[in-house]
Parts: sequence; structure tokens; C-alpha cells
Amino acid sequence: MSMEGVQAGAARGAAPPRANAGEREPLISIRELKVHFDLGGGTAFDKLIGGSGVRRVVKAVDGVSLDIYPGETLGLVGESGCGKSTLGRALLRLTEPTGGQALFRGRDLARLSKREMRGQRRHLQMIFQDPYASLNPRMTVSQIIGEPLDTFGLGGRGSEREGRVRELMQTVGLSPRFLKRYPHEFSGGQRQRIGIARALAADPDFIVADEPISALDVSIQAQIMNLMEKLQRERDLTYLFISHDLRAVRHVSDRVAVMYLGKLVELADAKVIYRDPLMPYTKALISAVPVPDPAVEAARRRIVLQGDVPSPINPPAGCRFHTRCPWAIEKCKEVVPPLAEIKPDHFAACIRISPEEPDIEKVAPGDAPGLRGTGRVIAQ
Ligand SMILES: Nc1ncnc2c1ncn2[C@@H]1O[C@H](COP(=O)(O)OP(=O)(O)OP(=O)(O)O)[C@@H](O)[C@H]1O
Ligand code: SF4
Ligand SMILES: [Mg+2]
Repeated sequence: MSMEGVQAGAARGAAPPRANAGEREPLISIRELKVHFDLGGGTAFDKLIGGSGVRRVVKAVDGVSLDIYPGETLGLVGESGCGKSTLGRALLRLTEPTGGQALFRGRDLARLSKREMRGQRRHLQMIFQDPYASLNPRMTVSQIIGEPLDTFGLGGRGSEREGRVRELMQTVGLSPRFLKRYPHEFSGGQRQRIGIARALAADPDFIVADEPISALDVSIQAQIMNLMEKLQRERDLTYLFISHDLRAVRHVSDRVAVMYLGKLVELADAKVIYRDPLMPYTKALISAVPVPDPAVEAARRRIVLQGDVPSPINPPAGCRFHTRCPWAIEKCKEVVPPLAEIKPDHFAACIRISPEEPDIEKVAPGDAPGLRGTGRVIAQ
């Protein structure tokens, strides 16, 4: 049996609930979601022309389970290439999942026909990273923002439609005087406002914001984050906020999920995860974030990770982080750590910690208390 398949801990369970979620139903439920990209290879011909003879499959998202609750902002962080965008796109079915489920209000989006999915699409929108590339340069602002209104039959015609577009422009802080202008006539921040207005046009419930501020000047980033927060309050929006900027994520998120090589490795309340990260990987990520207070900054201990993120084509067996983890032991190469509840509503995927001993620095050398598995274990 492949070591990759070995699971630590107890039985598989449901995805982790949100702290204080009470009885609320999740808006989005992801179950064992997988997105694999088949790059081909592995054929006799491939071998003949010098290929490795092994089929190459990128496991961009490899068994993610997660609930997202109405009105929350879930921050998703992780190094470049770990699968954040692919997860966001798969949720909206802009990329087809290879396996698992993505449920919106309890309905499995992957099982919907193209027509049914079009009906659901208006509830699920995306804000893209690059406000230059994501707006059609040949369309006016009116056409860009009005497009979803036409697609979903929401805007009416003529002056009624124009009125809706003007309203949306005002909502995102753009003057309706610019209605007939083209994207190149706007700054980066203004273009991102156009992108946000387009996402809002269909009056969605859920928005995947994929690096929505990383292409913008620092001075503009706060404005766009404030706008997104204001819209969330006014329209009861739920966000998946994807970013590699941990400071931005801390600022906007209620909870934060950390991803490494296609898997979730930690999930907790945003304040908690920044103050008390449990996973070695999260500790390293967070230790790299500068702190504004000079005294705290001077005392900050940085954990520098060795090496790059391994390829998602042949991810390391066992814990995928073992090739870079300063606390790795032999067992880490064999056992896939499940995302387990180590503290209340704080989930981490590491065999060397447990609810009884959540601090990896205090664990006896060579010990793996997570293997004794008393925590609530989540499907991986
Ligand atoms: N269409 C595709 N075909 C093949 N591989 C892909 C495709 N899309 C993404 N990948 C690969 O999947 C992995 C995850 O990519 P993804 O873009 O989701 O990462 P990310 O976390 O969003 O990275 P970044 O922070 O750089 O945006 C990467 O190895 C990427 O090369
Ligand atoms: S399971 Fe092992 S390699 Fe993975 S994070 Fe924990 S100590 Fe490090
Ligand atoms: Mg990305």
C-alpha cells in the first residue's frame, strides 16, 4: 500500500465548523474537493522520445474539505502554486473539479447541468487579481458592468439598465459620468472598482476575491479593502479572500485557512491563527510578517523555511511539508496528517501535536502525539 494513503488519527468526519457558527447552515460546503490537471505523458511513444514513461498529473487541489458561513470572510493563504486560485475557481466551476463536492446552499454545483449552473452563477461571482487583464479593453464601463445584467436578465433595457449601471458605479465610488469610457482611461484602483461593480451587478451571495489588491499600489490597497468591507456589511456578502499578503488577510478575515501543496493544513479564527499558529508551516509564514511595534519587531523570531515548495506533480509522501519542516521525524514521511481539531475550532494537520500537547516545541523528541488521535478528525 502506498504510504501516501496512510491516514493518521480516527474516523473521517465533516468539514470544520466556524467558531460561534451556532446552528447556522454553511453557504458553501466543500467536501474532499480535488482538481488534478493531467499533463499527459506516460505512453509508450512518450518513452520512445525520451519521456520519463510516467503520466504527469498536477494535484493542484487534493482533497480539501471546508465550510464557509454566510456573511463571513474566509482568508485563504499559502505560497505561490499551492492551489489557492484553483480552489477558488473550482468552487465557481470556472475550473471543473476532478472529484469531491462543492455545495452552494446544500446543492452540489458539480452535478448541475450547464443550464442549471448558469442559473446559480449569478449568486457566485469573482473579483480577479489583475484589473488590467480582466476587463475587456474594447468595452465601455457601461458595457462591462451591464454585461451580467444582460446575461441574467436583471437590468431591463435602455434608461432602466443605464440607471442600474449608474447606481452600481456610485456604489463602488466611481462617477457615473465615466459611463462611456474605456478601461485604459482609468487607474488600477478605478479599474478594480469596475471589476467589483461587475461582480456586484448580479447581486451575488458569494464572491471569490482572488488576490484583489496585489496588483494595486499600497496607497490604493486600503481603499479597495475598505470598499469590500463596506459592501459586505451593506449586502450581506460572503467572501473567500485569496491572498499571499498575510497582513491584508489578517485585516479583512474572520477566519483563515492555510494551504500547502493542494491541502489545507490549518484553519482557525483570524486573530487566533496570527497570535498562536500551531502548524510549523503557519508558524514560518506568520513569523515572516513584520510587526508595526518596533519593540515586538526587534524580538520577533523568524523561522526561515529551507528550499522551495516541492512540485505538485509528485508531492512528497506522508506530510507534504516534511521536506522543509524543522520538526519533521521519520514518521512524517509515512503518515498523511488529517486536519484535526487541536484546540476548540482550531484545526491543524500535524502528527506531532495533539489536543493534549498542542505546542510542538514542547513535544518530546521523536514523539508524535497526533498519532494517538484523540482530537476531532476532519476529512482530508
Ligand atoms: N490549467 C492548468 N493546467 C495545468 N496546471 C495548472 C493549471 N492551473 C494551475 N495549474 C498548476 O496548479 C498548481 C496550483 O496553481 P494555482 O494557480 O492554483 O496556485 P496559487 O496558489 O493560486 O498560486 P499563486 O499564489 O501564484 O497565484 C500550480 O502548480 C499550477 O502550475
Ligand atoms: S507532520 Fe511532521 S513534517 Fe508535517 S508539519 Fe508536523 S512535524 Fe512537520
Ligand atoms: Mg493564484
